[in-house]
Amino acid sequence: MKKTIGILTGGGDCPGLNSVIYGALLKAKDTGDEIIGIEKGWKGFLENRTRKLNVAKLDDLHTIGGTLLYTSRTNPYKDAKKVRDPSERAKRIEETAKMMVKQFEVLGIDALIAIGGDDTLGVAAAMHKAGAKVVGVPKTIDNDLSNTDYTFGFWSAVQLASDAMDNIKTTARSHQRIFVVQVMGRDTGWLTLISGISTGADIILIPEKPFDFEEDIIALLKERVKANHKYHIIACSEGAVPTKKSLERDFHTISKETIENLPLDDFGNPLLAKLNMSRIIVKELNRREDLKEFFQQNNAEFEVREVVLGHTMRAGNPNSFDRILGLRLGIRAAKLVSEDRYGLMVCLRGEEIDTVPLSEGAKKKTIPPNSDLVELGDLIKKVYFESR
Ligand code: F6P
Repeated sequence: MKKTIGILTGGGDCPGLNSVIYGALLKAKDTGDEIIGIEKGWKGFLENRTRKLNVAKLDDLHTIGGTLLYTSRTNPYKDAKKVRDPSERAKRIEETAKMMVKQFEVLGIDALIAIGGDDTLGVAAAMHKAGAKVVGVPKTIDNDLSNTDYTFGFWSAVQLASDAMDNIKTTARSHQRIFVVQVMGRDTGWLTLISGISTGADIILIPEKPFDFEEDIIALLKERVKANHKYHIIACSEGAVPTKKSLERDFHTISKETIENLPLDDFGNPLLAKLNMSRIIVKELNRREDLKEFFQQNNAEFEVREVVLGHTMRAGNPNSFDRILGLRLGIRAAKLVSEDRYGLMVCLRGEEIDTVPLSEGAKKKTIPPNSDLVELGDLIKKVYFESR
């Protein structure tokens, strides 16, 4: 039976979203199904904001960044999850799920392809549990979703961050400055670690490993100065935080409360951009008279600057890897719907496009402490002296 398939994109935009949509459109054309675009993620799903998508009018859509369907961080479960009483909360969550399932009729869709990160896919998994015909496609530049080798958008963002850090080196070198470059990724350091290693950043700070300001920054800078390095690049993940001990001992411009009291988005994620760790590090470095003196004694300039890459990392067109991955995931998602197979998340495993249960796929993936990438990051930051 021919189907009408809704498709939506939720959460932050990401290079490759349009590639997934185009892949789904190509497959639907092939199977004779129809695709209806739902605008602005769950917001448009609830507000009935739809439009028909015609593959003929969207030629080569897979090459274009962002999402033609627009996106939002709306969480349909937000109010239900706020209810204090556990049994009342469970009731409200169930009611919301039922309402979401009913919305399929209002929208005139038989099934839904939800493209998003853990938040969007978490909503999709809850809907499926309540009986909705949903397929999920993992998306995020952060690469923090388990059960897929990579999320599309990640390698495009890695390239943007690497290019930015490669480029900043020429100005860092010219002025003999310390640059603290803030890289996106609120919960995990995949973007920071890989772009940092690829560009030869001198210090890499990631959320998985809280840093000690004294040991991981001050001591390393001193060692680099002794080894006659005249400029320094610190790649700092926006989710990087100091250890409790270091926060209390070394930080004067923020406290534990500053971090704990950050505003939250609809899904309860702290808005880390408001914290701005790179600026805090610059401020704390500038307070260190001993460090300035050390630089001076060793004939080195002491000037610190901050660069926040922010949304430039999600901007622009996807690279070839993400275009192809997006297309393949989109095709498989539409194929699953045509085969009446739901409650699955499509994913990349080695060379293959595979599937996993949606409920498992929507889980977070952080960098394992024993990853060879961590070892590489530790080796690459070591300071080598010619005479040793
Ligand atoms: O989840 C992807 C991401 O780019 C994170 O790295 C970042 O913390 C967040 O989105 C920023 O979101 P927004 O665009 O809502 O400021």
